[in-house]
Amino acid sequence: MSYSLLRPLLFLSDPERAHERALTWLERSQHSAFLSRLMRRTCQIQDKKLERKLGNLIFPNPIGLAAGFDKDGRVVQAAENLGFGFMEVGTVTPKPQPGNIKPRLWRFPKQKALVNALGFPGIGAAAVAHHLKDVTVSIPVGVNLGKNFDTPLEHAHEDLLAVLGILYPFGDFFIVNVSSPNTPGLRELQQFEALTRIASTLQEKLAELGPKPLLVKIAPDVTEQDLEEIVQTVSQNKLAGLVVANTTTNRAQVPGAAFLDRGGLSGKPLFERTLSLIKQTRNLLGRDTILIASGGIFSGTDAAKIFEAGADLVQIYTALIYRGPRCAKLINRELLNFL
Ligand SMILES: Cc1cc2nc3c(=O)[nH]c(=O)nc-3n(C[C@H](O)[C@H](O)[C@H](O)COP(=O)(O)O)c2cc1C
Repeated sequence: MSYSLLRPLLFLSDPERAHERALTWLERSQHSAFLSRLMRRTCQIQDKKLERKLGNLIFPNPIGLAAGFDKDGRVVQAAENLGFGFMEVGTVTPKPQPGNIKPRLWRFPKQKALVNALGFPGIGAAAVAHHLKDVTVSIPVGVNLGKNFDTPLEHAHEDLLAVLGILYPFGDFFIVNVSSPNTPGLRELQQFEALTRIASTLQEKLAELGPKPLLVKIAPDVTEQDLEEIVQTVSQNKLAGLVVANTTTNRAQVPGAAFLDRGGLSGKPLFERTLSLIKQTRNLLGRDTILIASGGIFSGTDAAKIFEAGADLVQIYTALIYRGPRCAKLINRELLNFL
């Protein structure tokens, strides 16, 4: 049965419960040779034209699974089986925490959007390490670093350092999340002084452990001046690049979501903002820095426009909910028409 026929049925259930059910199924599929093979056959696409090399990392295709889908590192193997060219685990915090009160995830099917106010629920870095220690995949795995809800902003760098220290052996690259709208004050860490402190602390640790790429994920709601300062921090601290961008607090394109005074909006309404931010960021950054685009990318045409604007890789989350498990393959296949 095609996913578009199945989707209305799936959407009858509570979004967070549906997500947990999908994760449990994907987790089980990893232990079944039959299901893994079936998923690889239906969802993967092999074509050298899709391959990307960035530094020492090889990406079999440029479509990644964005942060938030697998916060605890439970389904990395399944993400590879689903045809993603890379994936991001997290956001991971040092200590386990429950996240915000429920309900905290809403669908807006007409606009192909979601609003989430999850607030980094997770099992904590040590337990995530336990999940990741036996994973062997051939796609690059990024680990998204976050601070605990109750850690004061001025100590955020210590939380990020703790997660990096624990998960360093399991990540091919690392992403600092200073852009979720669901942890009070977190976005203030995008400001020059705070971000410089975080960047220099983590870079120092990476120099000691052995260099691996460090990126920062920013909010789509940054001003031009914010962006200039962020880019300055990237170059001064020799960061590998940026993920542009996280969910938005702007509800202009989804009036039905205006009643939600919390949470971040993702999905199709973000696309034009992502495109213009990628153009601006690439202009400011120059060519040598990695730029990963995230926000409203649903098709190969979207991805082609984003690459044209200067991104190296793209990530998706909401498209997976609306286009289904073969989404990475569909986007890659469409993208091939442009390559
Ligand atoms: C339910 C949900 C949870 C998310 N959790 C995280 C997270 O923990 N860390 C993070 O950096 N981004 C998180 N995101 C943001 C996504 O990684 C992505 O940047 C954003 O949704 C825009 O991409 P999309 O339009 O393809 O979904 C989350 C998004 C959704 C929808």
